[in-house]
Amino acid sequence: MNRLSPALRHGAIAAFAALLAAGLASCMPARTPSDAGARVSALPAVSHPVDNPGTPAKIALGQQLFVDPRLSGSGKMACQGCHYRQYGWTDAQVLSKRDDGKMNTRHTPTIYNVGYQTSWYWDGRSATLEAQVLAAWRNQTGADPAKVAALLNTIPGYASQFEAVFGGPATPETVVKALAAWLRALVSTDSPWDRYEQGQKAAVSKDAIAGYALFMGKGRCSACHTPPTYGNGDFHNVGLEAGKASPDPGRANVTKNPADTSAFKTPTLRSVALSAPYFHDGSVPTLEDAVRYMASGGKADPNKSPLLTPTGLTDGEIRQVVAFLKSLTSEERWEAPKLP
Ligand code: HEC
Ligand code: HEC
Repeated sequence: MNRLSPALRHGAIAAFAALLAAGLASCMPARTPSDAGARVSALPAVSHPVDNPGTPAKIALGQQLFVDPRLSGSGKMACQGCHYRQYGWTDAQVLSKRDDGKMNTRHTPTIYNVGYQTSWYWDGRSATLEAQVLAAWRNQTGADPAKVAALLNTIPGYASQFEAVFGGPATPETVVKALAAWLRALVSTDSPWDRYEQGQKAAVSKDAIAGYALFMGKGRCSACHTPPTYGNGDFHNVGLEAGKASPDPGRANVTKNPADTSAFKTPTLRSVALSAPYFHDGSVPTLEDAVRYMASGGKADPNKSPLLTPTGLTDGEIRQVVAFLKSLTSEERWEAPKLP
């Protein structure tokens, strides 16, 4: 099973809080380039790989590439074409259409907090974020990476940035590295719940506080949605493919283990209120219905996770869990960058 880095597991959280208290927060690397102020969050710093350090200039370049439609085959479809900030970096659609006109078979997930994952996509088939970005660039935006890199080198504002960041022209590899560095900086923090946890008792409602207790306790949600990302990256079948004519094999596609059939990655629930519709098939339109589904224990399926069982949460309690999840919405500043 792929897991989050151990630093994110229960228990490390207290240690991290102590680090923060010791004033080490100032050592955390830059986050989004538009982020000037201090960020309020229980999330630790993302670690960037040794061969792709996340410098501010590289992250700023990656952000421009992410919103630039010139990276695509048609010249019209940016990465942002399916991952919009206002929808929690998703697209508000059940399934989306790729640059080549074909429909995706899975719902667009959020790209918040992907830097904490150890495998990418709903089924975890990419072992590095760089491999995932290259695949998305080719398949979702229909790009011929060598052609796009050549085009970028004809745009002076890009050529100078690649020279400054990588000491050379744009290449498929450096485009991917800049995009991945930016994705690692895309952390969902600065939520009312983070402020509450840091002592601002008026930052959230009484319902949100009750909802947190239910999430961690009676609802047993945190068995899989572990703080502080509220998604541990483990793969579980939660019954959503049950009864479908041709069920999505999910994780079993990667592991070839029949027990992993229709298991999907446990997503982060930070900023989840922005990213309707829900689940890998986009089948549930509202957050309340998604919580209701999970709290019911899910549909019967021979491979369903034993961790998902009926919780007996009442209607009122479900609404309190929803209030808690809404308090996890990131309020960080973000402005679309200017393109060269
Ligand atoms: C046409 C819509 C579309 C476009 C355009 C698009 N994506 Fe995605 N993205 C998706 C879908 C759908 C998935 C999930 C696919 C799956 O899991 O099988 C995804 C998954 C991802 C993930 C993995 C998230 C996770 O939790 O593992 C990342 C990161 C990502 N995309 C980044 C990008 C980047 C970078 C680009 C531009 C090169 C891009 N996307 C363009 C639809 C899109
Ligand atoms: C067995 C582990 C497990 C438990 C327990 C669990 N979840 Fe989940 N949750 C998942 C997985 C896996 C997914 C993705 C499933 C899919 O799309 O196939 C998910 C998806 C979700 C989503 C949709 C997120 C999105 O971006 O589409 C919400 C909301 C959610 N869970 C809330 C809850 C709540 C609230 C509880 C407690 C009542 C809970 N979950 C309990 C594993 C779990």
